[in-house]
Amino acid sequence: MKGLFITFEGTEGSGKSTQITLLAERLRATGRIVRTLREPGGTPIGEEIRHTLKHSEANHAMTSETELLLMNASRAQLVREIIRPALAEGETILCDRFYHSTLAYQGYGRQLDLEQVRHIIDFAVGETQPDLTLLLNVSVQVSEQRRQARQALLFPREKNPNKPAAPLPFDETLRDRMEEADRSFFERVEKGYEAIAANEPERVRLIDATQSLEQVRDSIWNAVSPLVC
Ligand code: TMP
Repeated sequence: MKGLFITFEGTEGSGKSTQITLLAERLRATGRIVRTLREPGGTPIGEEIRHTLKHSEANHAMTSETELLLMNASRAQLVREIIRPALAEGETILCDRFYHSTLAYQGYGRQLDLEQVRHIIDFAVGETQPDLTLLLNVSVQVSEQRRQARQALLFPREKNPNKPAAPLPFDETLRDRMEEADRSFFERVEKGYEAIAANEPERVRLIDATQSLEQVRDSIWNAVSPLVC
C-alpha cells in the first residue's frame, strides 16, 4: 500500500485534534496502518523543543527568528525519524500541523520575510510534502473565545467555578507562550491561512469548522476518501 501523508491546519480552537481522532478511526477501519503526529513535537527531541517553545519558564525572551528555527528543527527531526520511514512502509500519517503553520504563524503572524521562511522550511522538509492539507477554518472571534475559555479554566484554577470535571491533559495545564500574542497577531495568522489556501488550491482543502462536529467530519471524509478508495 502506498503511504499517505495528510496534515491538519488551523488556528487555536479549530477542533483539529478531535477530527484527527475521528479520521484515524475511520481510516483504520479500512485496514490502513495510521499514525497520528503533532508539530512541534512528535519525537523525543521534538517534544523537548515543543516544551521550550510553548511552556518553558525560560522562553519569555524568545525572538521570532529563534521561534522559526526551533519549529523547523523539530520538523527536520520528525520528517527524518518518523515520517519518511513510515511512508516508505506504506503507513498513513495524520499530522496536527506541518509547514503551513510556519508560513501562517512565523511568516504572516510574526511578519518574518516570507522568502527566508520558505528557504528554512525547504531545508527542514526537503521532498517530504503532504498529499493533502485540511485547513479547518474558524473566525478569529471563535478562536479567541476558545483560547479565552481555556485560559479561564487554567488561571486561577482553585477559584474558578468552571474548573473542568475531568483533568486536562498535561500540556493543557501549562502556560502557553504562543497564546500570549495579541489579537492582531492572530488576525494576521488567519489572513495568512487564507492566502495559503488561495496559493495552493490543489493541496489545501478549506473546511468550515464552524459546522457541527459531524458535518466537519463528513466534509473531511469527502476530501480524504478519493485518496483511499
Ligand atoms: P498546538 O499543538 O496546541 O496547536 O500548539 C502549537 C502552537 O505552535 C500553535 O500556537 C501554533 C504554533 N506553531 C507555529 O507557530 N509554527 C509552526 O510551524 C507550528 C508547527 C506550530
